[in-house]
Amino acid sequence: MTVRINPSILSADFVNMERELGHITNADFVHVDVMDNNFVPNLTFGPQMVSRIGEVSLVPLDVHLMIQDNDRWAAGYAERGAQSVTFHVESTVDPVAVATRIREIGARAGLALKPNTSFESVREIAHAFDQILVMTVEPGFGGQKFMQDQMDKVRAVAQFRKDTGTKFWIQVDGGVDEDTISIAAEAGADTFVAGSAVYGRDNPALAVENLRKLAQTNHHH
Ligand code: DX5
Ligand code: ZN
Repeated sequence: MTVRINPSILSADFVNMERELGHITNADFVHVDVMDNNFVPNLTFGPQMVSRIGEVSLVPLDVHLMIQDNDRWAAGYAERGAQSVTFHVESTVDPVAVATRIREIGARAGLALKPNTSFESVREIAHAFDQILVMTVEPGFGGQKFMQDQMDKVRAVAQFRKDTGTKFWIQVDGGVDEDTISIAAEAGADTFVAGSAVYGRDNPALAVENLRKLAQTNHHH
C-alpha cells in the first residue's frame, strides 16, 4: 500500500525555511498552510511566499488553503506552481468550478472538510477532486489534539471511494503523530500531514520514515 507523508512547515522555523525544507527531502509532499486571519484566527503567508517555497523545495507542494473566497484565490496557487491545491468547502461558492480550474492548470485539486462538515454534504461533488482532506483538528494551529471522532468520516470517504471506483487520496491533517497515525491509516487514510510530529523531533527525516512505516503497517488494505 502506498502512503504519503506530508510534513507541515507550519511547525518549521519560518526564518530558516530553505534549511527546514532540506530536512524533509524524503517526504512525498511538503504541506503548506496558507491562513488569512479570517477563515481561521491565524496568519501565515500568501502567494509570493508559496512561489518561493516551490522554487526551493525538492519535493512538490501540497498547499492547504485556510482562507476566504477560494473562488477568487485558489487557482492562483496552482498557477504559482503548487502541484496540489486543497481548499475548504465552507469558504467556496462553486467548489467544482474551482477544482476544474486547478486541474486545467495541471495541479491536483483537493477538498477540505472542517470537523463539523459532513462528508454527506459533499458526496455529490467528490468526483471532481483528487484528494479529500478530513481535518482531525479545528484548522488554525499546529500542535492540537487528534480528534478520533473524525474516523467515522474517514471510513465514510473510504467506503464511497470503494463503492464508486474513484481514485482520490484521503488525507488527514491535525494531531497526526506516532500514536495516532495508525488509527487514521486503519480507518482508510492514505495521505498524512504531520507538523509537530516531524519538525518537533530532533531528526525530521527519521520522523518521516517512522511515520511512513507505521502508516504502511496499519493501513486497512
Ligand atoms: C492546522 C494545519 C495543520 C497543522 C498540523 O490548521 O492545517 O497542517 O500544521 O500541525 P500538527 O501536525 O502539529 O497538528
Ligand atoms: Zn494543513
